[in-house]
Amino acid sequence: MGSSPSPDSFKFLIYGKTGWIGGLLGKLCEAQQIPFVYGSARLENRAAIESDIASSKPSHVFNAAGVTGRPNVDWCESHKVETIRANVVGTLSLADVCREKGLVLVNFATGCIFEYDEGHPLGSGIGFKEEDKPNFIGSFYSKTKAMVEDLLSNYENVCTLRVRMPITADLSNPRNFITKIARYEKVVNIPNSMTILDELLPVSIEMAKRNLTGVWNFTNPGVVSHNEILEMYKEYIDPTFTWKNFNLEEQAKVIVAPRSNNELDATKLSREFPSILPIKESLIENVFKPNRKTPVA
Ligand SMILES: NC(=O)c1ccc[n+]([C@@H]2O[C@H](COP(=O)([O-])OP(=O)(O)OC[C@H]3O[C@@H](n4cnc5c(N)ncnc54)[C@H](OP(=O)(O)O)[C@@H]3O)[C@@H](O)[C@H]2O)c1
Repeated sequence: MGSSPSPDSFKFLIYGKTGWIGGLLGKLCEAQQIPFVYGSARLENRAAIESDIASSKPSHVFNAAGVTGRPNVDWCESHKVETIRANVVGTLSLADVCREKGLVLVNFATGCIFEYDEGHPLGSGIGFKEEDKPNFIGSFYSKTKAMVEDLLSNYENVCTLRVRMPITADLSNPRNFITKIARYEKVVNIPNSMTILDELLPVSIEMAKRNLTGVWNFTNPGVVSHNEILEMYKEYIDPTFTWKNFNLEEQAKVIVAPRSNNELDATKLSREFPSILPIKESLIENVFKPNRKTPVA
């Protein structure tokens, strides 16, 4: 997308001020002394987006706004129009206005649009690639995200980042995947691709600076299972920690919509950023070592 702005001319317009990822992004910009403002528009309000852009004159736009559902994505099953308004109409409006203004939009999307299948069996190490067609529409949330990703692929100004099961070193945050599974009464045990935000959010900023666009599997390379994470939790945080597993059929009884389990092929991202750690190493370096409560053996 066009020529890169010079380093001192970056200014980011960020949507999702009150959200988890949007909040972290703002803190990162502050730490890196990158000028930024939060957008005040609702995404479905095109005129309000235009006004945000006119007043802030950004070099790049980040979208960390969207409906994720509270307490979880099951909310979207009973709030379909609200989900479409934010995740489809809103996201498309933002991409369309950014295109009109010649701006790159870095869009935090989801990798929960795939599930293991015959061509990508669990444990095979064959992950879904950026160009693969989504095969998981089991939840309304994932369905809208898959639809919008397909439509956004026609926008050459959009950088789509497929985030999965985001994790940070803040283990007190109930949105953190580790915190979630450590608090559940029972957990399934399935290897998945995941995103260590402490490591990858700075990468998203660098991607904007490089004006990268297109679809990116935005996960650390490799997979990690629920039990492997909880074993680490036991080793580093709480040696007395115990948990119970259940299978997918039993899990289906306590949730409304099915959840996706998959491996994404992170080769494209790793080629561009060779220092990104494999998921298990990143978990230890970025999450468990900084939180260690047990004595070093
Ligand atoms: N957290 C995850 O597990 C996860 C995983 C993969 C991908 N993602 C994706 O990453 C993005 C950010 O996730 P998150 O966890 O940071 O979400 P979040 O904490 O739920 O925050 C969502 C943000 O979006 C804003 N928002 C919602 N509808 C809006 C609209 N119509 N117009 C403008 N702003 C709107 C909210 O603002 P208000 O409070 O004002 O509504 C809030 O600031 C989402 O697109 C999500 O799908 C998240």
